[in-house]
Amino acid sequence: MQWSLLAPTILLCLLWYIYPSPRLSKLSRPPLSIVAKCRALQLQAGPPDNFHDRTESDRFVPGTRPHLIQNAKLWTGGDNGTEIISGDVLIEKGMVKGVGQFNSAVLLEIYGSELVVIDANGAWVTPGIVDIHSHLGDASSPELSGAIDDNSSNGTIQPWLRSLDGLNTHDDSYPLSIAGGITTALILPGSGNAIGGQAFAIKLRKTQERSSTSMVLEAPYQINSSFPDPTLPPRWRHMKSWSPLGENPHSVGWYGDVRMDTIYAFRQAYNTASQIKRQQDEYCSQALSGDWEGLGEFPESLQWEALVDVVRGRVKVQIHCYEAVDFDGMVRLSNEFKFPISAFHHASEAYLVPDLIKKTYGPTPAIALFATNARYKREAYRGSEFAPRILAEHGLTVLMKSDHPVLNSRYLLYEAQQAYFYGLPENLAIASITSNSASVMGMAHRIGYIKEGWDADLVVWDSHPLALGATPSQVFIDGIPQLLDPHVVEKPEVFQHTPPIPNFDKEAKAAVEYEGLPPLEPTSITKRPVVFINVRSVLTPGASGLEELFSATDDRALGTVVAVDGRITCAGLCAMDVADATVIDLQAGSISPGLVSFGSPLGLEHIAAEESTVDGPIYDPLSKGGVPEIVGGDGAIIRAADGLLFRTRDALLAYRAGVTSAIVAPTSEGVFGGLGVLFSLGAAHKLERGAVLQEITGLHMRAMQSLSGPSVSTQIALLRRLLLRPVDGPSNLWFNKVTKGELPLVVEAHSADIIASLILLKREVEHAKGRRIQMTITGAAEAHLLAKELGEAGVGVILNPARSFPFLWEDRRMLAGPPLTKHTPVSALMAYNVTVGVGVLEICDARNTRFDIAWASFAAGGNMSKAQVLALGSTNIMQLLTGNSRLHGDMVATRGGDLLDFGTKVVAALSPTRGLVDVW
Ligand SMILES: *[C@@H]1O[C@H](CO)[C@@H](O)[C@H](O)[C@H]1NC(C)=O
Ligand SMILES: *[C@@H]1O[C@H](CO)[C@@H](O)[C@H](O)[C@H]1NC(C)=O
Ligand SMILES: *[C@@H]1O[C@H](CO)[C@@H](O)[C@H](O)[C@H]1NC(C)=O
Ligand SMILES: *[C@@H]1O[C@H](CO)[C@@H](O)[C@H](O)[C@H]1NC(C)=O
Ligand SMILES: *[C@@H]1O[C@H](CO)[C@@H](O)[C@H](O)[C@H]1NC(C)=O
Ligand SMILES: *[C@@H]1O[C@H](CO)[C@@H](O)[C@H](O)[C@H]1NC(C)=O
Repeated sequence: MQWSLLAPTILLCLLWYIYPSPRLSKLSRPPLSIVAKCRALQLQAGPPDNFHDRTESDRFVPGTRPHLIQNAKLWTGGDNGTEIISGDVLIEKGMVKGVGQFNSAVLLEIYGSELVVIDANGAWVTPGIVDIHSHLGDASSPELSGAIDDNSSNGTIQPWLRSLDGLNTHDDSYPLSIAGGITTALILPGSGNAIGGQAFAIKLRKTQERSSTSMVLEAPYQINSSFPDPTLPPRWRHMKSWSPLGENPHSVGWYGDVRMDTIYAFRQAYNTASQIKRQQDEYCSQALSGDWEGLGEFPESLQWEALVDVVRGRVKVQIHCYEAVDFDGMVRLSNEFKFPISAFHHASEAYLVPDLIKKTYGPTPAIALFATNARYKREAYRGSEFAPRILAEHGLTVLMKSDHPVLNSRYLLYEAQQAYFYGLPENLAIASITSNSASVMGMAHRIGYIKEGWDADLVVWDSHPLALGATPSQVFIDGIPQLLDPHVVEKPEVFQHTPPIPNFDKEAKAAVEYEGLPPLEPTSITKRPVVFINVRSVLTPGASGLEELFSATDDRALGTVVAVDGRITCAGLCAMDVADATVIDLQAGSISPGLVSFGSPLGLEHIAAEESTVDGPIYDPLSKGGVPEIVGGDGAIIRAADGLLFRTRDALLAYRAGVTSAIVAPTSEGVFGGLGVLFSLGAAHKLERGAVLQEITGLHMRAMQSLSGPSVSTQIALLRRLLLRPVDGPSNLWFNKVTKGELPLVVEAHSADIIASLILLKREVEHAKGRRIQMTITGAAEAHLLAKELGEAGVGVILNPARSFPFLWEDRRMLAGPPLTKHTPVSALMAYNVTVGVGVLEICDARNTRFDIAWASFAAGGNMSKAQVLALGSTNIMQLLTGNSRLHGDMVATRGGDLLDFGTKVVAALSPTRGLVDVW
């Protein structure tokens, strides 16, 4: 800006401060501040025209050294996400200074020894990941009551609240999410209110000031009413709104209780804002026309100013909205009050109503989704893994989001990988968490791209970003390297290329045709043999773990497998002309053990948030009221088998993804669990042959600081008592079986201190009873701290979730894994010969077990054999929860590769117990 322009501007600003709200009726001429204010009302939000003249980022930290990253594969975000430049990127002053080929000698002359030269050695580099939906800092981890700042309980409509005011700078998630490549996130207020308040885009790195405000990217001037120059366009503001309705405000019980109430609350609020806007516009048209007679004060309201900005189109409105009925309500609202919507979030049914969404006022909103997290409440029941690709096919912008800590944003890339797996094109999958999310946030002028003049937010990856398990080897934010001593895993060359994916065209079409509820049941083949041809390998449970029954040396020597009544009768060189056989071509695929799911209420739950669809929690003897006498009093014991629900959608989806069975314990909110059950995910009901594979698996208990009941010491005392001197009643029998070593005792525990008490308790009981007992710890976030002791005590561990997160205080010393630590929880425990399995927390995650175990193996740096990897999700789970690793012999067949390959599809499940082969 030239001085001739700057001087009057400065004057304007001064006047602005000097005359806050003058009584105009007394003035013959308008003060400049009002003129400026009225002119400013007409400005659209965004960067100033000369933004790209900058030579230094406003976020540049003096002392940051320039970096030259050489020999990289740069995904720039250009050309609709298809531009890939093989070359170098120079970053300096918090910005990308150039992309292409640089002569480092010349640069060294310019920058001297300050320049850091990094040879990326052909590695992929993308822009930093931009998370469009996060509660990082506002719903902090570990969760402590003093740092839950995302939901106000002060009413349903709260556009005046600001997530910034609750932004905790000490959330343990910052370094973890940075380690996953997240550099920017939009921090939304919670969803307990219909309008939750203003959201703020932040960069995740630590700042020298250590304040919340210093993390904000392009802080809107309204955060402190400091308008540096009223002729500058306003900066984008952000608002979280809770669609009409939905079930959250509903469940919180605001207002009335139904969608009709919420929509009316919205209309009232928008009407108020629109009226203020109209008054302002009338006031300003009079003022700017020079008619100052009786003008009075400028109409404004601290309470409503943000919503007024929404109806002025100067706020990126993020709407949390799931169902067709709710999109419809929002479309009406946006047209009635004429405001654009930036994105619909969660948006489970968006893929069913793309034309409706296009009717929103203004540009068509983007759709921000989870990949496979669905069905957790009724409005998410029709969610589909094919939504990203279907929406993209309709020309809508698709974003993947974390809703951190709902999903750990460290793994937001995994959401994009899954969207890609189910058919979202490669360019759009990467853009969904970088350039497109930046653009929907109104920040595409500086983040989301690798371009000269953009912020120096970059991620160097150890593989192609869409390859499962891709991990940053370095992350730059504002040009500052964030990983001090990154642990980088060497990956095979094949991981550097676009991963192959299966074809899901038929399934995607069915998702729409059946309005989100396509039939998922397989076709069962009984009585007839099934012949699998072009089989590369067969791995089955043997006496000492998984053993190769057959393995082709090369593609010309692929084998054949014959299964009769679900049992493999021949593998390798088998006659193919079996009479009456169904022939399935595996195209160099494999047959391996069916996976076993554990940890979620799979088999006891259809929709978590709907009580009438779940088995429900058991009584706890330690809670108020205890267990009613008629149920058996404190000696009662509950069997999960009695509450089993078959063919839930999540069970069928998991089945289709190679998980043939699951073990579930009764749902408990207290110390007592009950008896687990092993059941088949393919069976239609409990009375079907092979539906219940083992009626009683192990005895489940919990020992946790976070239980609402009595102290941990009381919980351990109770366990001691029950093991050494069981109480009268049916539970007596089962605790005796535990102390005889006949039944595993499975204890959910997270803290290393509690796990240590359990190891001591095991010793004590074994000493008193003179026998070894079987003990398994589940959850186990801090188990790695006791790897040696667990190994010596022969106590196995089911890590749940597979990749730890500091949800609660008792998880906080979890092991992060690469790039933050060399070991993962799995490799740290296996180093001491601890038997390890991996579990899931939510029923919708059961289907991803194959990805979880494959990922665990990459992170262990290629130290695990295929058999060891598959055991994490099959035989080890069986061993740890039933005491027997080979119980049912279910197998699954994958086409085009094995179960651990990203690009393969499960085409059949073989069950000798059920006497059939299921095919899809
Ligand atoms: C962007 O890429 C997608 C998927 O590859 C394609 O369908 C779409 O037409 C492209 N858009 C433009 C503007 O080129
Ligand atoms: C919200 O807070 C204000 C100011 O403290 C108070 O007057 C009002 O009653 C509160 N409203 C609700 C619904 O709690
Ligand atoms: C905020 O409220 C929503 C809706 O009730 C809920 O899902 C979320 O867990 C709440 N956030 C926290 C941190 O409790
Ligand atoms: C107000 O916030 C801006 C960031 O938007 C900051 O640069 C400025 O220093 C702040 N002013 C005051 C008085 O705090
Ligand atoms: C783990 O088991 C292997 C094979 O039995 C043994 O060689 C090794 O010493 C054991 N490691 C530890 C730490 O106990
Ligand atoms: C992999 O194996 C090597 C050699 O045994 C060992 O030094 C290294 O610590 C292992 N790495 C992991 C992550 O387990």
